[in-house]
Amino acid sequence: MEKTNIAIVGMGTVGTGVARLLLDHGDRTSRHAGRILWLKKAVVRDLSKPRDIDLPDGVVTDSIADVINDPEITVVVQLIGGLEPARTIMLDLMAAGKDIVTANKALLAQHGPELFNRARELGRTIAFEASVAGGIPIIANISQCLSANQIVSLEGILNGTSNFIVTQMDERSASYDDVVRQAQKLGYAEADPAMDVDGSDAAQKLAILAHLAFGATVDWNDIPRVGIDGLAADDLRYARQLGYRIKLLGVAKLAEDGLELSVGPTLVKIGTPLAEVRDAFNAIRVIGDAVGPVFYHGLGAGQMPTASAVVADLIDTAVGRTRLTFQTLEYFSIDQPPRVKLRD
Ligand code: NAP
Ligand code: HSE
Repeated sequence: MEKTNIAIVGMGTVGTGVARLLLDHGDRTSRHAGRILWLKKAVVRDLSKPRDIDLPDGVVTDSIADVINDPEITVVVQLIGGLEPARTIMLDLMAAGKDIVTANKALLAQHGPELFNRARELGRTIAFEASVAGGIPIIANISQCLSANQIVSLEGILNGTSNFIVTQMDERSASYDDVVRQAQKLGYAEADPAMDVDGSDAAQKLAILAHLAFGATVDWNDIPRVGIDGLAADDLRYARQLGYRIKLLGVAKLAEDGLELSVGPTLVKIGTPLAEVRDAFNAIRVIGDAVGPVFYHGLGAGQMPTASAVVADLIDTAVGRTRLTFQTLEYFSIDQPPRVKLRD
């Protein structure tokens, strides 16, 4: 059977999950890819740091050059969080002929146009299913499965950490500080959890979805956003007494005069699907003009749900299917996008 040599850069929560799926379930990936996905290198920052996975001899390295200079490695999973050195490493990898799979939404929301233009120039692909809503295949659904539609609106819970925090505070009377620490321990939170609780992470994901769904290039920083960091246990209690839960919702809606975008804590009626989304689950309600409303629900953060999306992207990339997503972006970049109207 043919082999695609793969490298992972960044062996934290998600990188470890991806390595587990590749090493422990090679039969699944081979069956779907029709080839072996072979983990040849895993790049770490600190060789002496203990890791909760045993990698085969010769796989671990602290030198990105071991990947860049190895022509046999054709696909690289980039799982360093934040902007730098993730951006430079991704550009260097593409220049060395590697296709990329990433979960780093902060990087794509901030430098997406530069990275995708460079990929286009170099004939490379960037797959990013895991960058929004963890294990829910929302990127594939919006960019491919719903491509016959004009998306009219999308709204959803896009940050697992915030939803975990409000659920635990509301239903288990947990204290805010304790539950933030728990979200970090469970691998849900960003390296800097401020990005989760102040609405930034959800705004970054909303900007990526808005690009795919509406062809709008949005600076995530311009999206009006309020996080859950200002919520008190009493807010959640009073909302419940009135028949509502408070959820951090990201909303993108086509209005007559443009696209409205916002992220903020929102009262959602108990018993409706979004109100019943708990813990690190995410959910997104998309309305397309042909299909009508569609609802997606699943784990939006955590090691294995995110690894599930990354490995599906690896398989797509290995067999050449990633180009579909990529062409969608290209198509949108020449289409007439709606004017973006930022709601206060
Ligand atoms: P993480 O646990 O912090 O892992 C990041 C890893 O990158 C760390 O092990 C870090 O090493 C390593 N790293 C940093 N700089 C490096 C360098 N120069 N060379 C090699 N390794 C380097 O983060 P994560 O949760 O796995 O998330 C990874 C990415 O996926 C982020 O962009 C995140 O936003 C995204 N994501 C995460 C989830 C989730 O549920 N966790 C879900 C969806 C998307 P040290 O250990 O030495 O710091
Ligand atoms: N920190 C993110 C969250 C990880 O909690 O949703 C998934 O993108």
